[in-house]
Amino acid sequence: MSPPKTFHVKSFGCQMNVYDGERMAELMAAQGLTQADAVDADVVVLNTCHIRERATEKVYSDIGRLRKDQRRKSGKTPMIAVAGCVAQAEGEEIFTRAKVDIVVGPQAYHNLPDLVAKAAAGTPSLDTDMPLLSKFGALPRRKVAPSAFLTVQEGCDKFCTYCVVPYTRGAEISRPFAAIVDEAKALVDAGAREITLLGQNVNAWSENERGLHDLIRDLDRIPGLARIRYTTSHPNDMTQGLIDAHRDIESLMPFLHLPVQSGSDRVLKAMNRSHTRDSYLRLLDRVREVRPDIALSGDFIVGFPGETDAEFEDTLSLVDAVGYAQAYSFKYSPRPGTPAASIVEQVPESVMDERLQRLQAALNRDQHAFNAATVGRTCTVLLERAGKLPGQLIGKSPWLQSVHLIGNHAIGDLVEVTLAAAGPNSLTGTERIAEAA
Ligand code: 5AD
Ligand code: SF4
Repeated sequence: MSPPKTFHVKSFGCQMNVYDGERMAELMAAQGLTQADAVDADVVVLNTCHIRERATEKVYSDIGRLRKDQRRKSGKTPMIAVAGCVAQAEGEEIFTRAKVDIVVGPQAYHNLPDLVAKAAAGTPSLDTDMPLLSKFGALPRRKVAPSAFLTVQEGCDKFCTYCVVPYTRGAEISRPFAAIVDEAKALVDAGAREITLLGQNVNAWSENERGLHDLIRDLDRIPGLARIRYTTSHPNDMTQGLIDAHRDIESLMPFLHLPVQSGSDRVLKAMNRSHTRDSYLRLLDRVREVRPDIALSGDFIVGFPGETDAEFEDTLSLVDAVGYAQAYSFKYSPRPGTPAASIVEQVPESVMDERLQRLQAALNRDQHAFNAATVGRTCTVLLERAGKLPGQLIGKSPWLQSVHLIGNHAIGDLVEVTLAAAGPNSLTGTERIAEAA
């Protein structure tokens, strides 16, 4: 195989994967490769997600389709790298069965350029080592979007009984404080105005007794950084310090993604969530006390093994009690090797379908209501991309709503608007004209 000139990175799944995918693209670009469509690229990286559904089969079919599409179009055989959590969990089997050129786990992707060079020289390789943190230092940065991600923490020690993350991403580790602050400064220099701190359990970030709120306090001092967010959090790591930060730090946006998964104490226990319905609700009360306008978001699983109709109703009543601004909901999917996968009483697909529909109807209703309740408010909007209409730009409100605006602005501007009309998924804003002094 001659040395590749073009690449394509395809990411599936969570924001952590989107971030990792961007970093891999930067690494390839730093080697002089240019981006191309999947059907034309010499190297295609499939950055996979293992969290739900038939992840492994999907990888096999993606590999097959890629090879077929390239063969049809140009007669080429692309170099294929499988990255991400499926690579970590089932890399060896994919490596031998699908005969891909590279398998690289989420903790090893800084080695990608070396692995590509080796594969081009005829040696395929598998790298699913989990060294602590070495990948971060190796990552170059170019110009970035107004809203950027920054990984501060990885892995999870919680072992919820349905979840593969503790196995694929490993134990909780925190990146060093100083490295994060340096990277945040570099991001701001490169054009970021908002930074979202990422981690599977981002609020478990710690270093020498310092917690996420201490980190946020330091980041708040970076000139030019207007907004800070963080995701995803676990209820048990929501410290008073972090709650207070929502009152004290203006650049910390009023938004909290705090997965609950179920409203039933029996199910929560079987999930090994180590919080109850009531402790979760009380926690949200404490957050709302310091930041009454906070937008709440969550994750839900319907059809966990053994979930009864009454237990599902408990989830619906929790949703009613919270009034989420947005949320994600999923059908339970047995992940090989997790404790819940071997529980015998799996819930039939048709029951899960019906529960998911009912839950999503309730969540959509609340999202629309949240949006409608913000109409008339004045807030800042960070403009992130062009809209479909001439002169239209789309950005985010402090509450992470999409806001459409027509006006003479550029991407990256932070504009003061009045929210004028609300739909289920977005709002329109009108510019607030400053009164003459
Ligand atoms: N089945 C369905 N949903 C899952 N999640 C994690 N594992 C599973 C699974 N096996 C969901 C949880 C988690 C989100 C990232 O994905 O709601 O918070
Ligand atoms: Fe998975 Fe639970 Fe860890 Fe979240 S907290 S990553 S759901 S094990």
